[in-house]
Amino acid sequence: MMKNVAKIATCLILAFTVGGQVYAVDGGNPKKGKHLYKKECKACHSKGDAAGELTPMSKTMSQWDRFFKRDMHGAQPDVFKKLSDKERLDIQQFLYDHAADSDQPQTCG
Ligand code: HEC
Repeated sequence: MMKNVAKIATCLILAFTVGGQVYAVDGGNPKKGKHLYKKECKACHSKGDAAGELTPMSKTMSQWDRFFKRDMHGAQPDVFKKLSDKERLDIQQFLYDHAADSDQPQTCG
């Protein structure tokens, strides 16, 4: 009897730990990110704009991660500075989820 209880408890703890890790990797809210991307990025990055058209498929998943961690929109740093950390994470999540080498590549926001 005690053995079974311990087994069940271990399973529950494992399930929560694994679930928690997945959440920690993802983090951002891609739905909000899509909305923010349209609002904050498309203004300069639509077809025919000087900054160049940009879609989630413009980069691979690792290129997006690098862009958000290292580059931080180096071409015009103010663009990223006016966004909160959460907003940047949401946008990063949306672009990452639909990157060129993702499961669901997407050409337009
Ligand atoms: C005020 C205008 C403006 C806004 C808003 C803007 N950008 Fe940009 N972005 C630029 C300019 C200008 C460049 C440099 C283009 C070049 O190098 O020819 C650039 C470059 C980039 C690049 C590099 C392009 C490449 O080929 O590597 C990425 C990625 C990018 N922006 C992403 C974003 C994202 C994501 C957002 C929304 C959070 C955003 N931009 C919002 C003006 C803007």
